[in-house]
Amino acid sequence: MSFIKDFSSLVGQTVTIKGWAYNVRSSGSIAFLQIRDGSGFTQAVVVKSSVDEASWQAASSATIESSVEITGTVSKHPKQEGVFELQATSVKLIQKSEEYPIGKKEHGPDFLLDNRHLWLRAPTQWAIQKVRNEIIYATFDWMRDHGFCKIDAPIFTPAACEGTTDLFEVNYFDEKKAYLSQSGQLYIEAAIASVGRCFDFGPVFRAEKSKTRRHLTEFWMMDAEAAFVEHDENLAIQEELVSFIVARVLERCQPELKILERNQEPLKKIVPPFVRMTHAEAIAKLRALGSDINDMDDLGADDETLLTNQYEKPIFVEKYPAAVKAFYMKRDPSDPTRVLNADLLAPEGYGEIIGGSQREDDYAMLVSRIREHHLPEAAFQWYLDLRKYGSVPHSGFGYGLERLTTWICGIHHVRETIPFPRLLNRLEP
Ligand code: 4AD
Ligand code: MG
Repeated sequence: MSFIKDFSSLVGQTVTIKGWAYNVRSSGSIAFLQIRDGSGFTQAVVVKSSVDEASWQAASSATIESSVEITGTVSKHPKQEGVFELQATSVKLIQKSEEYPIGKKEHGPDFLLDNRHLWLRAPTQWAIQKVRNEIIYATFDWMRDHGFCKIDAPIFTPAACEGTTDLFEVNYFDEKKAYLSQSGQLYIEAAIASVGRCFDFGPVFRAEKSKTRRHLTEFWMMDAEAAFVEHDENLAIQEELVSFIVARVLERCQPELKILERNQEPLKKIVPPFVRMTHAEAIAKLRALGSDINDMDDLGADDETLLTNQYEKPIFVEKYPAAVKAFYMKRDPSDPTRVLNADLLAPEGYGEIIGGSQREDDYAMLVSRIREHHLPEAAFQWYLDLRKYGSVPHSGFGYGLERLTTWICGIHHVRETIPFPRLLNRLEP
């Protein structure tokens, strides 16, 4: 069996491919089957007079999404450079598809999401999943090459990592409650004292009642954590990683980006250094741009869009007011009302893709933060232990895979970047 992606090196050879006919057209003497095999897309040309009767029957009766096996000779498209076809010598129907519910007419998002198990086959959806896959592999490659050990954090957790308002609670034996993880961060903080630098990569859960284009209730996060890394170096690591990921996608996902009609010029500009500004500077800029945001407010999605439309590169907004950020962030020694954090905002209006910070490493300070945030102290004893036994300055960050993929693919809504989105009003299919 051969794969369509390899056709450029198979011209003139006889190959067999297996896949699905995503479009079919047939006259009395010739049939054109658009075939998708997972690796790429091609057209099989079936001439009645060049194949046996069974093959012609198969080709001329194939319906959209029928699964097929086709043998033929790979040829260059007569007019389009870089496009290849298959001149069929034999066609077999593996299964003749029933009438396919997703047609050529425009469907609304609800219909497509209800049929997500089928919609995933569409070329745009194929392209998005391939880009997502490349981002994942690029992340693993960069992390390994920079000394980060993969550490798997648990999903059942006894307490909140990112605030208590959006926790999913589940029953956990003998009337105990567990919470689905919002981020593996706290656990990989423990692991740095073992392996120095590490990252996790897994599903996280947020019971956020937000119906925006940026929110999922289940999404994939990559958390990274490094011992002896302070605020500035934390940002340097992030801009290197993000630039590497974008470059890798540009290098390896050209067919995908073309299907998505992604303008690649903005992506080519993603190289270090990124823009940096403090939260106070961001507020001043936003006001100048007409926003009515207050000095100590968190940035909302609209503010992020407004701000990122002003720059070609991603923006680190650093040193947010402590009051709007998580308990574990270390205070800025030069202004204790603020923390040594940064959110990384993607350009072209996409907004936050990474949240990160230096962590509070002092035992007594951390205890008082836990109390201020009304968190259950007992559940955090193990986390406090980390500040008792060889505490070190350390920092980390977490990216949202779907946010990153949405931006790099240049699409509108995060829900298309995860195979089976979980949203406020959607748990199926
Ligand atoms: O900014 P967040 O909440 O940061 C953390 O969870 C930290 N513990 C990470 C760390 O320091 N290790 O989430 C990190 C990223 C966000 O920047 C965003 O990209 C994504 O996760 N994210 C979401 N993506 C989709 N849907 C949601 N509801 C998201 N909430 C956060
Ligand atoms: Mg955040």
